[in-house]
Amino acid sequence: MYDFDTVIDHSQLASEKWAAVRQDMGPNSDDVLALSVADMEFTTAPEIIEALHRAVDGGVFGYEYCTDAYYEALQSWMSEHHHWNIRKEWITPSDGVMTAVFTGLRAVTHPGDAVIIQRPVYYPFTNAALRNGLTILNNELVQNAAGRYEMDYEDLERKASEPRCTAMILCNPHNPVGRVWSAEELRRLADICVRHGVTILADEIHADFAYPGHEVTMFSTLGEDVAAHCMEFTAPSKTFNLAGLITSNVVIPDAALRRSFGIAADNVAGLSVNHFGLVACQAAYEHGADWLNELRTYLNGNLEVLREFASGNDAIDLVEPEGTYLAWLDCRKLKMSAEELRDFMRYQARVYFDEGVLFGDGGAGFERVNIACPRSMLERACEGVEQALKHR
Ligand SMILES: Cc1ncc(COP(=O)(O)O)c(C=O)c1O
Repeated sequence: MYDFDTVIDHSQLASEKWAAVRQDMGPNSDDVLALSVADMEFTTAPEIIEALHRAVDGGVFGYEYCTDAYYEALQSWMSEHHHWNIRKEWITPSDGVMTAVFTGLRAVTHPGDAVIIQRPVYYPFTNAALRNGLTILNNELVQNAAGRYEMDYEDLERKASEPRCTAMILCNPHNPVGRVWSAEELRRLADICVRHGVTILADEIHADFAYPGHEVTMFSTLGEDVAAHCMEFTAPSKTFNLAGLITSNVVIPDAALRRSFGIAADNVAGLSVNHFGLVACQAAYEHGADWLNELRTYLNGNLEVLREFASGNDAIDLVEPEGTYLAWLDCRKLKMSAEELRDFMRYQARVYFDEGVLFGDGGAGFERVNIACPRSMLERACEGVEQALKHR
């Protein structure tokens, strides 16, 4: 039995998530709960902590390479958890996923090209495109009558066929709307991109979080034609709460794309890996499965808390997530502007969520809630919103 109930004392930690509350709301914000940035309010798996202790005790921190054992741990994890058999030569260990996505974009685009993203989406994708001199083609996700987000394939086809469109960044599972794209949906997307020579950069950082009834399809498993047109970005950071160790693994099955990626990385002095990140990643993939299983069960319970909260009021709806530990709350019935909604949550409800509008205009009126926290914290957050709704 692992412990997900203990509330972490942040007073001695330099947590970005909690610092943002103080920074934005000032000193009288100690009671405000931060359920924003996508890291967890849990300590990582004890098996990983033990491996890190051993690494510290070894006392040698010189330059190092990735060992066979490191690659094997990653390969076994992907094979067992995602039915995905990857070859060692396909893997490039890297620092953060976003660093690798930047590199991937530089590898397959030229300044002035266009890249497709699907808003509302993790907003650093926009930054990655703009910083690389690319134009953004937004293939906006659309909600069906039941509120479930879907892709607009006609629009995607139009955008992919634009002559300067050379890349697409896919997010699967999708942050923030929580979709786990089905194999059929991905196949349709892939057919369009392959037909128009658009390389897909598949960000699969949330791949280890699918709720029961949903299964993540790793992009290149769709077929050889697809594998020849994609780069995949994986990491243990969301799964095991290791974001501060800045370690990810890029998987590129196609040799020519891999070469382009390598050149793009070398042009900025290469992607570097960190001793502790490698140790933690290997330990996570070798010994972290039980912890993750229990965590998933716990998150399921947290999701149930949020479901009850949403069904207990008529102003806020939950867009049922299929994956990730992020939940997307539809607050549009409150009929507040983005600023009013933000202030309502922060100053009335005393909760600090991520504002939906950050993820694109279509996110206006939504709040993204990070449910990877002790249940008591989530319950307090829901209670805060409930009280604020009553007194509005
Ligand atoms: C979809 C997605 N990609 C990338 C990242 C960031 O990854 P990294 O910290 O490794 O750059 C996040 C973090 O929330 C994310 O949600």
